[in-house]
Amino acid sequence: MSAEPGGVTAVAHANIALVKYWGKRDSTLILPATSSVSLTLDAFRTTTHVELLDAPAGRDEVVLDGEPLAGAALTKVLAFLHLVRSQASRTATAQAARVTSTNEVPTGAGLASSASAFAALAGAAATAYGLELGRRDLSRLARRGSGSASRSVYGGFVVWHAGDLADPAAGDLTSYAEPLPTAPELDVAMAVAVLDAGPKKIGSREAMAATVATSPYFPAWTEHTEADAAEAADAIAAGDLPRLGEIAEASAMRMHATMLAARPAVRYLAASSLAVLDAVADLRAAGVGAWATMDAGPNVKVLCEGADLDVVAAGLRGIVLPGGGAPHVLLARPGPGLRIEASA
Ligand code: ADP
Ligand code: DP6
Ligand code: CO
Repeated sequence: MSAEPGGVTAVAHANIALVKYWGKRDSTLILPATSSVSLTLDAFRTTTHVELLDAPAGRDEVVLDGEPLAGAALTKVLAFLHLVRSQASRTATAQAARVTSTNEVPTGAGLASSASAFAALAGAAATAYGLELGRRDLSRLARRGSGSASRSVYGGFVVWHAGDLADPAAGDLTSYAEPLPTAPELDVAMAVAVLDAGPKKIGSREAMAATVATSPYFPAWTEHTEADAAEAADAIAAGDLPRLGEIAEASAMRMHATMLAARPAVRYLAASSLAVLDAVADLRAAGVGAWATMDAGPNVKVLCEGADLDVVAAGLRGIVLPGGGAPHVLLARPGPGLRIEASA
């Protein structure tokens, strides 16, 4: 495929990990310490357009939600474009790009904007620069922008393999995501209790690095997570939602325990998060299958059966938060993988 004159648009949906990725073994290649398992959602997505400019590389323009990107966020996108150009062996390699992105997901709020963002950017930039990548290579490429983005290349339940631990070059080739065999009767949904849609004070990347460097619990976390990922894959294949829910909730709590043990502690759990976790336990005590997961932010996502989504959402909307008021609850179902469209 040659470079697209009108540019390329790609759409990717965010994913929420059920067995978490928390910690890198190589931060340049973004190789994770462990495998992870996720669910891509229909509710949150990023749309990114990449067009090549009549200007030399180094003059890239990046706009997110109508504003020029700056600082560390810009640096990450420029490094990613540099990587794509280095993989493309055409003359366009020297050309700059204009990246225009729109998030239909709060940015940096622990709702996985970096996952949908870098999956969409990988698809749009690779295609704009004439790289013909299969899904697996797109997943490996997206991983280099943000680890969780490797999983957003696919819809539904996904595993991101830790890859070959022998050396970084082998890991780079073998650490990619792929869809998980899923029991056809497994009908899941997620209710998302949005407690704070504002950006987190400490980004996932930095928080993860601090955990790896200073948490004495980190080795125990990595040791158990690989087995959790395998068990979650089994539960998904068997259509066993209670088993999957239990693993997911445990993985989230263990991830937060690991970061709470860092020095200084990394804490995303808020008082309002605990109120939601209590409500999820109450739902379960009342016989409703509901399991909580949390990422790098205070918001709580609740996994349940599709048929129970309304009752779970009603339970969450009935919570009286510590500061007063109720959480804003969004409803999500499994979403699709990366879509790439070349425009004329
Ligand atoms: P989360 O993934 O929970 O939203 P992270 O801290 O992992 O939070 O990632 C947020 C960062 O991802 C932003 O600060 C920015 O660097 C990057 N990001 C998010 N959306 C986009 C986008 N559409 N285009 C480029 N970068 C983005
Ligand atoms: C808590 O993928 O955002 O959401 O690879 O440094 O960009 P970088 O981090 P990111 O980390 C996601 C962490 C998490 C758990 C998960 O999605 O598995
Ligand atoms: Co992220």
